Amino acid sequence: MTMDPASADAITLALLREARETVRRSPLGVINTPMIPLDQTTLPASAGGRIHIKLENMQTTGSFKIRGVANQFARRQRGGHFVTMSAGNYGKSFAFASKHYGTQGKVVMPETAPESRSVLIQSFGVQVERVPTSRLMDVVDRCVQEDNMTFLHSYDDLDLITGHASLGLEVLEVVPRPDVVVVCCGGGGLLAGVAAAIKLSGCDETRIYGVEPEGACTMYRSFIEQKPVGMDTRSIASGLAPPFAGKLPYELCRRHVEAIVLVSDGEIRAAVSVLYGAGLVVEPSGCAAFAAIVNNKIPDLQGKSVVCVLSGGNIGKDELANFPD
Ligand SMILES: Cc1ncc(COP(=O)(O)O)c(C=O)c1O
Repeated sequence: MTMDPASADAITLALLREARETVRRSPLGVINTPMIPLDQTTLPASAGGRIHIKLENMQTTGSFKIRGVANQFARRQRGGHFVTMSAGNYGKSFAFASKHYGTQGKVVMPETAPESRSVLIQSFGVQVERVPTSRLMDVVDRCVQEDNMTFLHSYDDLDLITGHASLGLEVLEVVPRPDVVVVCCGGGGLLAGVAAAIKLSGCDETRIYGVEPEGACTMYRSFIEQKPVGMDTRSIASGLAPPFAGKLPYELCRRHVEAIVLVSDGEIRAAVSVLYGAGLVVEPSGCAAFAAIVNNKIPDLQGKSVVCVLSGGNIGKDELANFPD
């Protein structure tokens, strides 16, 4: 029997452990981020659980994306000329890795993305092409077909997801059998990787929840329709708002995730402010899991050990200034 290399069946604990070693040894300097009990912060305790927060906002490049990128580049970098599509944290990690490995890279981004993002990515020596949102995929296809570039996907990619799984394995070194793990979800790469790591490590009883914004709930809808679907997305958490749920992430989430819960943009904004008040700079996309916990969206937390992932901290002071106190 031949196995689809990009199917959920291909993901085993051995593969995740190997990816974790690759990420740990990566020359990109990926760190084992701190995980601290909520009651050792000045954050309001809530929901009655024993909550740990995993500070991925302190990760190299400011988000978890570097984990998956470290694994993608380690496996594919030789002689590579890569193209991707992202105005966000994936684009930043991709550019950082391209510079480090000395590979040629191009980021295709929507012309609506902030100019500062193009400037940052170009500063790593990576080319940027800004195009209307509707043409993004056509331009990537052209780069692949005419310029012989290799497309690296920002959430639907086996090497990326197994790299992200390193976060889940690290969590288990601090809390070996969590009752509940809460992770935000955009295309679903992070959630899929973390969920696979926890369940394949034998934590059968752990409940894993994904959190999406109400206006960008592609994985939530995919669970209902029982296939990965897309929608017109709108949210302040732009990293959580890609137009489609990933196919491989969807398959893994179906297997390992209890449910997807939704938070409003207002709840996300309030979470950014509360975290900032406790000295934690977390961007809107990075706050969704925390917002779900403090707004009682996750059932039955009383007395349970709970892990909440804060996935990124890339937010500028201008943006922060617009949030409520
Ligand atoms: C900070 C942050 N959190 C979460 C996500 C969602 O990740 P995924 O698309 O793997 O679900 C992103 C995606 O860019 C992000 O930047």
